[in-house]
Amino acid sequence: MGLSQDGIFRKLFRIATFALELVFVRSYNYFSRNSGDIPSQFHSLYYSSPEKTWKNTRWMGHRTMKCPLDLWVYQEILFELKPDIVIETGVNEGGGAAFLVSIMDSIGKGKLIAVDIELLENRPVHERITYIKGSSTDEKVVQQIFGMIKENQVILVILDSDHNMPHVLKEMEIYSSFVSKGSYMIVEDSNVNGHPVMPNWGDGPFEAIQEFLTHNDSFEIEKEREKYYMTFNPNGYLKKIR
Ligand SMILES: C[S@@+](CC[C@H](N)C(=O)[O-])C[C@H]1O[C@@H](n2cnc3c(N)ncnc32)[C@H](O)[C@@H]1O
Repeated sequence: MGLSQDGIFRKLFRIATFALELVFVRSYNYFSRNSGDIPSQFHSLYYSSPEKTWKNTRWMGHRTMKCPLDLWVYQEILFELKPDIVIETGVNEGGGAAFLVSIMDSIGKGKLIAVDIELLENRPVHERITYIKGSSTDEKVVQQIFGMIKENQVILVILDSDHNMPHVLKEMEIYSSFVSKGSYMIVEDSNVNGHPVMPNWGDGPFEAIQEFLTHNDSFEIEKEREKYYMTFNPNGYLKKIR
């Protein structure tokens, strides 16, 4: 059954208004880059309301400080890579860890090595998770992780522990060698120190990434992973390309 003349006009009108809207939104985005734009304003609003947002986000009852928009990207990366091992530094209450192993359960593959200086009682217990207590940059911890990895495994690294530049940079130097080619080293919370939140934080993950990339050409920033406008990890999705 064909459309009535009225129906055709309505459809054309919708297509035309949608096209106009797209042109308007894209022009707005283009001209308002880096100038207190809507994504930055929303990011600031989100970050400055922790009791509503990043301190009030749970996966299966476990609190995570990660942003749900990033978790969705994590899910896409996990599905694409189907890693043998994910290493996460910084566990806290373990909502991030719980999320990662839920996706691994759905995929039917993967183990998580989770490192923290303090292992909280309420962290998730799961057969895919091995916890290591200690500093992520401690030689003994690194050796323990090394001993758990086999040759040719697909390895993804997520750095989410101490967010000061010297620590993150040291982690990046150490953990970059664990990442398999084609996989990622995700550096979390590079949004602090004015990118765009907490402008007075001091040098943090964002600056560590900048410094790391001046002398390591095995990784490149994959901006496409920041597709939802707000990410806690700007410039933090680093792909190992060689
Ligand atoms: C941002 S929280 C981790 C959040 C968690 N990944 C999540 O998804 O909710 C940071 C954690 O890093 C831990 N931490 C701080 N310094 C550390 C270090 N040197 N090595 C390992 N963990 C560290 C803290 O104890 C804290 O639990």
